[in-house]
Amino acid sequence: MDIEQEILNRASAIEDKIRTYMPKEKGFQQTVLDAMDYSVFAGGKRLRPMLMEASYQMFGGKGNVIEAFMAAIEMIHTYSLVHDDLPAMDNDEYRRGKKTTHAVYGEAMAILAGDALLNYAYETAVSAVVQNAGDIRVAKAFQILAKKAGIYGMIGGQVVDVESEKNGQTIDRERLDFIYRLKTSALLEASLMIGAVLAGADDIEVAQMEAAGTKLGLAFQIQDDILDVTGTFEQLGKPIGSDDKNDKATYVAFEGLDKAKEDVRRFSEEAVSILDKLRGNHTFLRELFLYLINRNR
Ligand code: IPE
Ligand code: IPE
Ligand code: MG
Ligand code: MG
Ligand code: MG
Repeated sequence: MDIEQEILNRASAIEDKIRTYMPKEKGFQQTVLDAMDYSVFAGGKRLRPMLMEASYQMFGGKGNVIEAFMAAIEMIHTYSLVHDDLPAMDNDEYRRGKKTTHAVYGEAMAILAGDALLNYAYETAVSAVVQNAGDIRVAKAFQILAKKAGIYGMIGGQVVDVESEKNGQTIDRERLDFIYRLKTSALLEASLMIGAVLAGADDIEVAQMEAAGTKLGLAFQIQDDILDVTGTFEQLGKPIGSDDKNDKATYVAFEGLDKAKEDVRRFSEEAVSILDKLRGNHTFLRELFLYLINRNR
């Protein structure tokens, strides 16, 4: 398998699917619809829906109930980026190779577009719950999505991330791990768990997928921090040096670049070894996890 090509093919198919779930009806609120579209279709690796679909396939999932959830998680992820880039947060001007949403639409509209994406994600996913009323797996998938996006998930991590600014060197490792596990791992965990749940995996298997997501997320965020130092704007599509600008408490600031690089590999391999113990064909997921170790975007 040419993993790089496979990833690109899957991302492009996912993008087509997401498009069908975006709001179509027009009205006086058109500006926010434009800002939502602008944010979602700016490009992006589509990693979370890709993980979700691959986890679903790994556990033998068939049918299209997964699609609404794939779209929903990408909407939630995109909203988290729109808000993360706001002047009050990381204050960044570029994202996915284009001007950030607030830079184009203004701050108020970027806040609303983020809110709208979050809300529309739930509108989208709950439609799947209603269409499959009586199927507890779909309701459980919705519960996972909601929890991992919230105060015990992504939002919780962003809170501590913001509070830890200007504390780069003094923050302790426990708090740093908390930030990473929540702000980044949570949505990756949700992706892997939802795919598994919808495919009929049991509770133990779902917990294992969650554990794989935790490790993968840790590796993914450390690599993001590394690229903030060693990457280029052309490859990343977002500014480098953003963490330094904000005096962020990052793994790189805490452990140094060499140890950070080593740990990206170590956590990714730990994630793979969790997968390896599970049933199902996980060739693609395995290669994807390993591919991400050396990603440059
Ligand atoms: C960026 O996520 C935010 C982090 C959690 C590091 P991605 O690197 O997945 O961003 P896109 O979706 O590809 O733009
Ligand atoms: C953001 O982490 C994680 C989110 C939940 C949005 P970063 O602030 O490091 O993400 P980038 O570097 O802006 O993509
Ligand atoms: Mg941030
Ligand atoms: Mg940021
Ligand atoms: Mg970053």
